[in-house]
Amino acid sequence: MQSHSNTIVVIGTGGTIAGVGSSASDHTGYTAAQLGVAQLVAAVPSLSGAPLEVHQLAQVDSKDMDFGVWRELAQAVAQALARPEVAGVVVTHGTDTLEETAWFLQSVLAPSKPVVLTAAMRPATALSADGPQNLVDAMTVAAWPGARGVVAVLCGRVHAAADVRKAHTYQVDAFDSGDAGPVALVEAGSLRLLRPWPEGQALDWERVWALEPAAWPWVEIVTSTAGARGEAVRALVHAGVRGLVVAGTGNGSIHRDLEAALAEAQAQGVTVWRASRCGAGPVLGAHPRGWPSVGTLTPAKARVALMLALMPV
Ligand code: SIN
Repeated sequence: MQSHSNTIVVIGTGGTIAGVGSSASDHTGYTAAQLGVAQLVAAVPSLSGAPLEVHQLAQVDSKDMDFGVWRELAQAVAQALARPEVAGVVVTHGTDTLEETAWFLQSVLAPSKPVVLTAAMRPATALSADGPQNLVDAMTVAAWPGARGVVAVLCGRVHAAADVRKAHTYQVDAFDSGDAGPVALVEAGSLRLLRPWPEGQALDWERVWALEPAAWPWVEIVTSTAGARGEAVRALVHAGVRGLVVAGTGNGSIHRDLEAALAEAQAQGVTVWRASRCGAGPVLGAHPRGWPSVGTLTPAKARVALMLALMPV
C-alpha cells in the first residue's frame, strides 16, 4: 500500500468474500455472508496496523440486495468521504449484484475520492480463497493518490462502475469491463493506470434519501427473444410499473409483438429505454419510436439509471 497517512473506511455488506464452506474444496455449495468484515480484515496480516475503520453495514448474499441497504450504504459512504482524514472507502460485497451497487453509488455520489467495491468468487474457507488478495488490492486503490470515483477491484483489475460486469458464473477471473477495458491494474502493491479515473455528475442525492425505498420508481427489464410475447409487459403495466428497460437482441432490436406491447405501455405513461442482451457493445442509432439507447450500460445498470431518472425532483 502506498500511503498509510490517511484513514480507509471499510464497510462490510456480506457476499462470498465473507462466505463459509463445508470444506476447503467447496467452491459452490457454501453459505455467503457469514463472517464479519472485521474478521476478513484481521485475517490479512499485511493490513495489521493500517489506518482502518471497519463498519458492518449489512450481512447479505447480494442476490438479496435491496434499496434499503443501498440507501444506507450511500449515506454511510457519503459521510465517510466528507471526513478530511478519510482517503477512501472500501466496500466488501457479493459478486452477483456488485455491478448494480457500484453503478448506483457512482450515479448518486460521483465521488472525488475513491470508493472501491471488492468481492470474491471463492468463500473465505477455500484452499485458494481470492478474497484476501482482493481486499489488499482494494485497500491499495482506496489509498492511491489521485484515485477517484466508484470502481470495482477484483483479480488485480480496477474496473469503472459504468463498465464492470460479472461475465462468468464461477471462475475466479469473473469480471470484465467490456470494450472499455479496466481503468488500472494492481501490480505487486502498485497501480498501473491505463485510462482516466471515472468522472461524473453527482445526483441531488437528498431527493434519494428523502424517498422511502418502497416508493422508489418501479422499473423492470423485459428481454426480447424469438417468439417474444407482449403479455408480460401488459401485466407489468397493469401492476403499476413506471419504467421498462428492453434487453433487446443484438443492437437493441425488439421483437414486433413485444414492441407493440411496449408502445401501448408508453401510451399509458411508462418510460421505455433500450439496452442489449449482448454482453458487450453499445446500442447504436435511433429507434423509430424514439426509445432512447442506454449506450454501453448493461440492462441491470440501465434499470438503475432509469429508476434514478424517474425519481421525483
Ligand atoms: C453474493 O453475491 O453475495 C454471492 C456470490 C458471490 O459473492 O460470489
